[in-house]
Amino acid sequence: MKGVVLAGGLGTRLLPLTAVTNKHLLPVYNQPMVYYPIQTLVNAGITDIMIVTGGNSAGDFLRLLKNGKAFGLKHINYTYQEGEGGIAAALALVEDFADGEPICVILGDNIIEGNISQAIRAYRHQGGGAKIILKQVHDPQRFGVPELEGRRVLRIEEKPSAPKSDYAVIGIYMYDAEVFKIIHTLKPSGRGELEITDVNNAYIERDEMTWDELSGWWTDAGTFESLLHASNLVAETGANKMEMTR
Ligand code: G1P
Repeated sequence: MKGVVLAGGLGTRLLPLTAVTNKHLLPVYNQPMVYYPIQTLVNAGITDIMIVTGGNSAGDFLRLLKNGKAFGLKHINYTYQEGEGGIAAALALVEDFADGEPICVILGDNIIEGNISQAIRAYRHQGGGAKIILKQVHDPQRFGVPELEGRRVLRIEEKPSAPKSDYAVIGIYMYDAEVFKIIHTLKPSGRGELEITDVNNAYIERDEMTWDELSGWWTDAGTFESLLHASNLVAETGANKMEMTR
């Protein structure tokens, strides 16, 4: 399984912090934001990793991450997203890199307390299709929100005003090679982007979507509140633990 970290975008919700640099290079407590999602992949045993960047300061990723020595890697791959096509458009850029293998995609501003090893194992066992990871939240309106019926996910709504559950679809997704065919069929949403939620709904319609629930905390870091919250959580408990003690 290969890994993809999506670290493009203009980070407009964090202006002026993102006026001259990329959101994913901003500090979260004592590390640049992008360190956390890379560590999440590495801790799950994924070492063939592509960073998709874009917008401001793309060259700084190379200067910061180099060949990934800080994560015990020998090599990191990089690609550049031109324009603002959305998460699914960024993902389309890694088709050649994936080369038919399954991928684990993580949004560059998603940070977790624990690890995703169990979900990755379960996905490997399922032998194709897709898996999403859910976390109960108090503000589902900010996220992709699933409508659930037992173990089945019926549909995901992107930032609904009347959420059908109190779960968020976190920004860690597992896909087989079909994902690229699905992306090629997508139409831009109301905000002019190819939405990852539309990719996930396509897998749900094919009856090829499973979900797991994450243990430990999860946060994004793309707004002032969540960026501060992320720093506080990391300072208090640490992130990306291999073993969870609580
Ligand atoms: C994106 C996805 C959303 C998901 C969230 C997780 O939203 O569109 O479905 O729940 O990431 O961080 P964004 O934060 O890019 O608005």
